[in-house]
Amino acid sequence: MTVMDRAPRDEGGMTSEAYRALMRHQAGAVTVVATGRGAGRAGLTATAFSSLTDDPPTILVCIQRTAGAHDIIAKARAFSVNILASDQQDVAERFAGKVGVRGAARFEGHAWGELATGAPVLAGALANLDCELSEQHGFATHTIFIGRVVDGRMRAAADPLLYFRGDYWNIGQK
Ligand SMILES: Cc1cc2nc3c(=O)[nH]c(=O)nc-3n(C[C@H](O)[C@H](O)[C@H](O)COP(=O)(O)O)c2cc1C
Repeated sequence: MTVMDRAPRDEGGMTSEAYRALMRHQAGAVTVVATGRGAGRAGLTATAFSSLTDDPPTILVCIQRTAGAHDIIAKARAFSVNILASDQQDVAERFAGKVGVRGAARFEGHAWGELATGAPVLAGALANLDCELSEQHGFATHTIFIGRVVDGRMRAAADPLLYFRGDYWNIGQK
């Protein structure tokens, strides 16, 4: 028999803590969402990313309202989603605030370029999706940014960086 642990609940139902414990079990791609230009650039590590439609080519990302990049995405109306390769864990940690740098300083030490929209795109990422902001919808602490993908690049021979149970994983070579 497969033993499964029931997530704890209290009188109010599912707690945030129990929800987070459940969500730790979703293995996902790690991305860096980046926006702005020059000294006005900002970005953050994000796993709340999904394809929305392929016609038109559209993705969504969920960004906390307090993130440095949040208001800049809304103002610039453009952003990139950079799907990280397994050799880019240092970038994920940097853009998750783990090394104490914020704003444009997060872009130092790695090669960034630009595609059609001018949003920063990371060299060596598994894929760069260059997006124009189509719509945004606020919900509680976060905003869902819906982006029309207008340009992109991909790196053929590379593995993804994954996040699962609070840690980074590499699925290795096939
Ligand atoms: C693996 C991982 C995934 C994350 N995913 C998201 C996400 O999807 N959306 C989000 O708003 N923050 C996410 N975060 C948190 C942000 O990366 C972090 O709070 C970052 O420091 C926000 O940028 P700021 O310091 O400019 O506010 C994630 C962090 C980690 C480590």
